[in-house]
Amino acid sequence: MKMANLPDSAGINDKGHLEIGGCDLVELTKEFGTPLYVLDERTIRSRCRDYVKCFRAEYPDTEVIFASKALSTVGVSEIVASEGLGFDVSSGGELYTVIKAKADPQKIYFHGNNKSLKELKEGLEVGVGRFVVDNEYELANLEKVTNESGMRADILIRVNPGIEAHTHEFVQTGRVDSKFGAPLDQLDELVGRVKKTKLIGLKGFHAHIGSQIFDSAPFVAVTKLLLDLTKKYDTEEINIGGGLGIPYLAGETAPVIADFAGQITGVLKGKTEAKLILEPGRSIVGTAGITLYTVGVVRDIPGVRKYLIVDGGMSDNPRFILYGAKYEALLAGKPEAEKTETVTVAGRFCESGDIVIKDGKLPPAQVGDIIAVLATGAYNYSMASNYNRVPRPAMVIASRSRAELVVKRETYEDLIANDSQ
Ligand SMILES: Cc1ncc(COP(=O)(O)O)c(C=O)c1O
Repeated sequence: MKMANLPDSAGINDKGHLEIGGCDLVELTKEFGTPLYVLDERTIRSRCRDYVKCFRAEYPDTEVIFASKALSTVGVSEIVASEGLGFDVSSGGELYTVIKAKADPQKIYFHGNNKSLKELKEGLEVGVGRFVVDNEYELANLEKVTNESGMRADILIRVNPGIEAHTHEFVQTGRVDSKFGAPLDQLDELVGRVKKTKLIGLKGFHAHIGSQIFDSAPFVAVTKLLLDLTKKYDTEEINIGGGLGIPYLAGETAPVIADFAGQITGVLKGKTEAKLILEPGRSIVGTAGITLYTVGVVRDIPGVRKYLIVDGGMSDNPRFILYGAKYEALLAGKPEAEKTETVTVAGRFCESGDIVIKDGKLPPAQVGDIIAVLATGAYNYSMASNYNRVPRPAMVIASRSRAELVVKRETYEDLIANDSQ
């Protein structure tokens, strides 16, 4: 089965069911229940390899680091680390997770626009390769913890490049009106302050313009800007962040990693010796993931709308309620059935905005059918909550006809584990 928003290993087995990594998705729901996150190991590995191969072929001094905010679990981090990628972490929790996955600390870039003193100390203790300093307050805090501990820290300064990318307002991060990064006109002062510190070394600059971006022009613009800063301040590293878009819908033509590599490295080749760093998240894990739900209620409001109400929703995938994100689905038991109905797949939570797919196309579905929502690998589990005190789903990684449980389904006990009793 070939659709741009399906995992690479997706196919239809002899029962006519959708399979991923040789695992029958209907059978997986019998073993692990629903909702269930299923990840395709082949897709994750293939995207990691594409990034490394395509960039290094053009610009050998490239480091690819996975933005772990897109999907942070020990099992996923182990796969990514085994492909030689480093990690962008943006909290002590993400740092803890990748360290548990035995990531090379030197390849960890510690992000965040308000890291606590505790988190900065944790970063120093594990020896992260770079702190990405967002603002002058953070620089002051880092100076404090390095002076107290006597440990050195190498940093990149995150700049606000003032570049608008065409994507949802909530995932634009590089325009002038942004809470992220140092304004360009304050860099002289910030760089001057770094030079006055005893134990902090400035290695270069970072910018991240946003997420789910299809157009290469803003990436090219930010690379040029960072190249100029590298020359101006005589630094060694250019980190252009992440943000490459993926096809959520089958008809979407998302950027190809090889083309992207050509465009970015074209800006740098022959003009600098600086190391290039990239931080893809969504484009590594997004299309690797599928979420399986069971239909529990079919609510047909004649002349208005037909709802299929499933056993998950905004707590395992808040992207519709956050951004109006669009998804597509198939019936796992009959993926090739003609999509003759317009339906809204709604969740089980106490919010009217709790929608997974609004007015999507599906074949006629009944109570008990398994709905497979596509391209849910990024920013679903990592943004999941326990709203309505619903335990978060399990996650399995499918490969070579085996499904490995990488996140257990939460229990009621887990839900009250931190409540005083
Ligand atoms: C600093 C930074 N780097 C990388 C990323 C990853 O972006 P994406 O998942 O769109 O590739 C993000 C996501 O917002 C980010 O904030």
